[in-house]
Amino acid sequence: MLSEERVREVVGSLKEPFLHKTLGELEAIEEVKIKEEKNHVSVKVLVVKTGTSEQLELQTQIVNTLKEAGAATVGIRFGQLPEEVIAAHRSQEPEGESGLLNSTNTTFIAIASGKGGVGKSTVSVNLAVALARSGKKVGLIDADIYGFSVPDMMGITNRPVVRGEKIIPVERFGVQVISMGFFVEDNAPIIWRGPMLGKMLNSFFHEVEWGDIDYLLLDLPPGTGDVALDIHTMLPHCKEVIVTTPHPTAAFVAARAGAMALRTEHEILGVIENMAYFESKITGEKEYVFGRGGGDKLAEELQTEVLGRLPLDQPDWNEEDFAPSVYQEDHRLGKIYSEIAEKVISRLNQ
Ligand SMILES: Nc1ncnc2c1ncn2[C@@H]1O[C@H](COP(=O)(O)OP(=O)(O)OP(=O)(O)O)[C@@H](O)[C@H]1O
Ligand SMILES: [Mg+2]
Repeated sequence: MLSEERVREVVGSLKEPFLHKTLGELEAIEEVKIKEEKNHVSVKVLVVKTGTSEQLELQTQIVNTLKEAGAATVGIRFGQLPEEVIAAHRSQEPEGESGLLNSTNTTFIAIASGKGGVGKSTVSVNLAVALARSGKKVGLIDADIYGFSVPDMMGITNRPVVRGEKIIPVERFGVQVISMGFFVEDNAPIIWRGPMLGKMLNSFFHEVEWGDIDYLLLDLPPGTGDVALDIHTMLPHCKEVIVTTPHPTAAFVAARAGAMALRTEHEILGVIENMAYFESKITGEKEYVFGRGGGDKLAEELQTEVLGRLPLDQPDWNEEDFAPSVYQEDHRLGKIYSEIAEKVISRLNQ
């Protein structure tokens, strides 16, 4: 039979995932209950952030440790550590480590959508390039760790270099880029579990030398999964741009991504309707091949505006400066992206 003291001892030796101090040290075990007849142990533990993949990892550790110590079943509840405790232990962290995340000069903009293949990566890349063309200092994180596509889309062939302890992003069209694709051999698929994803993203923030940038764009993987959640917890002030196709059901799905942004109090900058129509180069006639109204419907639902509508078209082919998904500045889509960039800048300056 486990005693309360023993429970506090074994659970207390585990580390709080955000502060990296033991739960004992942080006095984070709020409650221990033991039901003798069933050999059931329940604990309430306080952490810095609840509802995270880190919490899930800690939960597994607690269950395993208590079962090893002899508990038949384990119940866990989580709560939030008091601000004073967090502040007291945070201040002991090395200075400057999280410079970028705490920087007030950098605006984070996540490009999200409810489903795949609507053009998030295309929009991320071209919005980043358009912001850079208008004179801003821009970074781009390919946060699609499994399905990275930014390096290929931008025609990046070189790899980042390491200076001291930091990784220097690759610059292309004036944008500082970092992608998992830079660290994977021969396009090998990546099989990782959720918690590792969070760690990778963390290194993209902390181990990359971003310098002094105005905007950091994040190309999110499709849906509202792990990475989207990590971003929500890591970057509480992140802004969001939601991409949809013009089909009303697509907008419906995208609304879920938007709903998540609203729930986490991420400000939505607006909606971009991609693949909005096809315009004949010969007659100039527009055909709404993927339907109509999706962008407006979504903007209405999220109480925001449509920042722009992009028709179907490919960038012009350029042998010398190959970048298959980047529209030239004078391309009609390049111009629309410039307009969207101006809208984003002015919304953020308001
Ligand atoms: N306006 C457009 N005109 C023509 N093709 C487009 C347009 N926008 C995107 N595409 C093409 O559609 C495909 C999907 O785009 P993209 O990869 O940007 O979508 P995504 O939302 O990032 O996808 P995933 O969910 O897989 O990350 C790509 O082949 C891209 O080149
Ligand atoms: Mg993508």
